[in-house]
Amino acid sequence: MRKKAILITGAAGEIGQALVEYISTSGEYTLLTLDLQKMPERLNGRSHHIIGDILDQKLFARLVTEYELDTIFHLAALLSTRSEFSPELAHQVNVNGTLNLLQLAADQSQQRGKPVRFMFPSSIAAYGLPDLPTKARDFYVREWDWNYPTTMYGCNKLYCEQLGSYYSQNYQQLAETIPTMIDFRSVRFPGLISALTVPSGGTSDYGPEMLHAAAQGQPYRCFVREDSTIPFMAMPDAIVSLLRLWEAPRSALSRLVYNVTSFSLSAAEFMAEVQRHFPQAQISFEPDHHRQGIVDSWPAGLNDKLARQDWGWQPEYDVARAFDDYLVPNIRQMYH
Ligand code: SER
Repeated sequence: MRKKAILITGAAGEIGQALVEYISTSGEYTLLTLDLQKMPERLNGRSHHIIGDILDQKLFARLVTEYELDTIFHLAALLSTRSEFSPELAHQVNVNGTLNLLQLAADQSQQRGKPVRFMFPSSIAAYGLPDLPTKARDFYVREWDWNYPTTMYGCNKLYCEQLGSYYSQNYQQLAETIPTMIDFRSVRFPGLISALTVPSGGTSDYGPEMLHAAAQGQPYRCFVREDSTIPFMAMPDAIVSLLRLWEAPRSALSRLVYNVTSFSLSAAEFMAEVQRHFPQAQISFEPDHHRQGIVDSWPAGLNDKLARQDWGWQPEYDVARAFDDYLVPNIRQMYH
């Protein structure tokens, strides 16, 4: 008999590590994790980990002989800055990889005769505002505003949201096949800040990089202007939002893709928070023209009213709690 499991792709990444830690703690679920990298030592034994590539369909064929998947958290992706250096590779990983996982979910749902829940983290990168006056005016964007991404990563995320909706609602609509049941759900995350990991290859990375550098007593050159403003969220809230949406009854959802956010900060305000806890922090601003352009195209805030209304989303960490209770104590401990 096949073992029931939850599959998490990109499990060794920032969100992946936090999600594996959270879900495995309850002991309720069997976790199957997949990543190009091995899991960090502190998470050894929390999942059945496979080192592999989401572009390797033969690997999936093998997995399904052993496991029955009822949920897929598809987290694997190349982030926004990295994707601008290799846009075609980004497309392969971010789009073709997602297509492979959706196909896997479709096959699994047909075999099980039951839905497979497909959780997909999207991003503020799905938005593209044309200029700074518009960004200041339309501060809190709604899900359907400004869906004109300027990066390959943003295009990939926006398209995969659509692809997920297609697989959920219209897959093979003209074919005489067994119907699939993919229950696709997605959150658009702001910039995420973890106390335990530092992101790599993203464009919102200046926030977490500034904080982790300060905690290690290292100087930091911020690659965007002081006034650059985007929304952020502490990692525990990101995990809770994914899990709340995962658990929500389908009937409560008025859409498949939801904004979630916590607080918006300019880079100067982010620095002030960092210096409140690490007064010796040496932070300078040396904007990189290209990365600045990306951040300028991202919204200053997200309107997450629908997530609050439909499935009770509510962040636990505002800016003060995020720094005082989660980020700073854990970071101090880690680098001690
Ligand atoms: N944090 C991501 C990035 O900067 C956006 O989702 O690429």
